[in-house]
Amino acid sequence: MGIDYQKDKQVFHLYNKNMSYILQIIKGEFVSLRYWGRRIHCFHDSNKLLFYDRGFGVNIDKEDRTFSLDTLPQEFSTNGLGDFRSSSIAMEWSDGTSVFDARYQSYEIRQDKQPLPGLPSASGEFSQTLILHFYEEAHDIQLDVSYTIFEDCDCITRNVSISNLGETSCKITKLLTSNTDFNHRDFDLVTLHGSHTNEKNIVRRKVSDGITMLSSLRGTSSPQQTPFIALCDPNANEAYGNVYAFAFVYSGNFMANVEVGQYGSLRVQMGLHPEAFSWELAPKESFTAPEVVLTYSYTGFTGMSHAFYTFSQQHLIKPQFRNQLRPVLLNSWEAAYFDFTQEQLLELAKKAKDVGIELFVLDDGWFGQRNDDAHSLGDWYANKEKFPHGLDPFIHEIIKLGLRFGIWVEPEMVNEESELYRKHPDWILHVPYAKPLVGRNQFVLDLSRADVCEYLIEQLSNLLSNKNITYIKWDMNRHLTQVSSALLPAHKQKEVYHRYVLGLYHILETLTSRFPNVLFEGCSSGGGRFDFGMLSYMPQTWTSDNTDAICRVNIQYGTSLLFPPITMAAHVSAVPNHQVGRITPLMTRYAVAMSGNLGYELNLNEMIEEELHCIREQIENYKNIRPTIQQGDFYRLKNPFHQNGGAWNFVSKDKKHVIAIYIRTLSMPAYCVETITLRGLEEDAIYRNSETQEIFGGDELMYAGISIPRVREDFTSFIWYFEKL
Ligand code: GLA
Repeated sequence: MGIDYQKDKQVFHLYNKNMSYILQIIKGEFVSLRYWGRRIHCFHDSNKLLFYDRGFGVNIDKEDRTFSLDTLPQEFSTNGLGDFRSSSIAMEWSDGTSVFDARYQSYEIRQDKQPLPGLPSASGEFSQTLILHFYEEAHDIQLDVSYTIFEDCDCITRNVSISNLGETSCKITKLLTSNTDFNHRDFDLVTLHGSHTNEKNIVRRKVSDGITMLSSLRGTSSPQQTPFIALCDPNANEAYGNVYAFAFVYSGNFMANVEVGQYGSLRVQMGLHPEAFSWELAPKESFTAPEVVLTYSYTGFTGMSHAFYTFSQQHLIKPQFRNQLRPVLLNSWEAAYFDFTQEQLLELAKKAKDVGIELFVLDDGWFGQRNDDAHSLGDWYANKEKFPHGLDPFIHEIIKLGLRFGIWVEPEMVNEESELYRKHPDWILHVPYAKPLVGRNQFVLDLSRADVCEYLIEQLSNLLSNKNITYIKWDMNRHLTQVSSALLPAHKQKEVYHRYVLGLYHILETLTSRFPNVLFEGCSSGGGRFDFGMLSYMPQTWTSDNTDAICRVNIQYGTSLLFPPITMAAHVSAVPNHQVGRITPLMTRYAVAMSGNLGYELNLNEMIEEELHCIREQIENYKNIRPTIQQGDFYRLKNPFHQNGGAWNFVSKDKKHVIAIYIRTLSMPAYCVETITLRGLEEDAIYRNSETQEIFGGDELMYAGISIPRVREDFTSFIWYFEKL
């Protein structure tokens, strides 16, 4: 891994074992991407940049009619200088004009990676960083574009910061972190779309003319769109083909553009959504945009996912959780909703302990006057009816049972019916000329305000001062509207969306540093804020409020494009399922939930002894295979979005343990015998099926595969365990 500079050609070569990313300074002033893809050893300019005198070209240099920014691949695209594609930046100068003419000036290569101020960003072990300095002379602005290449994963992070060195304030009205110009458009575009209870559907289409825009203006990354796009060869699949992918390390509004140029080139951009955004840059101030991570794989989507997995596990997740196995939990939500007494919960906890659960999670309903969703968000003290002596004695009982204890909070919100709102009505996002809007009966606290953030830090620190609370489920159940802050002046109101996210990150940074061993699980009505920004503070996320095993096959499969199974909280719940009414076998519910970070979310007191016995066996089994599931390699085998079910397998890092899972949705007539071929095994090794004791070659399991028997039942599942001899 390294970054070389070839002075004669003015070429920067960022490389690791598998990948090269090559930039060139053009005419001493602009920077172009010359190559990105499979590792090449030395760049001799074989793919020359060719320029032609073309209609409508605007020439920066009047002596050269062939050279126009409109056809130049640019790493940071200027504004108002004849590159008519979407720009990387837009400024508003004090005279109302907006042209931004920054030219390349110099570079720096560093052996480390600096953290980004106020923002989550990848840690820089095994990495090198190239910083390109650009300068805008007319307004004395410096712009730095940084690239960090990593040795342990095929990823490059990119970020942009801008500094006002002049004497006059100006405004940033658009600043996209990444801008990547490909010289052709012959790609498919893969994105993740969804909604509440239906997150992360994989959508694949041909790149088409014009601009395709993915975005969120909901104040969070959202379940509707994930801040991720991949471009792949039209024939790329799980194992073959080039894939270029981009993901944003940010949890608020975002935009990703894919724009086909007039001569068939392709521009891909990602960054803060420019709508409803601006940022005042006073003299001597700087602004840093959130980080984008770029990944290249020549081994299809598996290579892409594995690069993202290593990146998030080794560079985003807090070090103390990187190698830590996650506890099997029982969550009280679908078991009891708001309706419980502490005695009932203790009964539940006893049963939980008895079947092997390790962590008891008290979900919503434990605080203030909270007996429904219209009350008490904001009042983070124990509900006096449910816990007359406070939470501590209850927690103590749970700990005495030999369980860990965790608790649910939704700190960013407040109900109209709460003490906090009555005391501080101006602490919510609102506009002075309209009634504040509710969603799930709640308002959004204005995290752009330092006083609100400090209050929340204090409240949550009080809660966590009980050292027996070792897990927090941090929820966020509505999107932002009437986004305005009572404290900011008129010209800064468009900063509120971003300031909200910065406020949130400040709270999370403070709490996770103050309580480093508390395991945070992110949640936004399920996977509504499952992004690399939140993962930097919360090593796992509640994947979806939809706990139906069949729906979960798709949701977890889609989520696995970016996030490793250890980050995906997945629970076995009751039947008929509370979201879709489906009845699925307990075994299938387990097969899906054990494919992630296993938990249970159902009333064990209502289960018969036979079912409890099954659950006991499931948990015992999971504890044995947990290192392979949570720390091994994950391979997708059958895509449930296109087929009657899905399949995947796990392989431990030493390739000794293999677990394969197949879920069939419907039982079909005229059954055509299906086969799944495993992946990631050792070809020459012999593997034994741990249940049947049959012996197979690694190559045989991978190439000939396993036949799947017919079962005359819907929603069936199969799990195979193999051990290397
Ligand atoms: C959200 C979460 C659920 C549960 C409820 C509680 O919907 O996604 O898991 O915690 O809130 O109100």
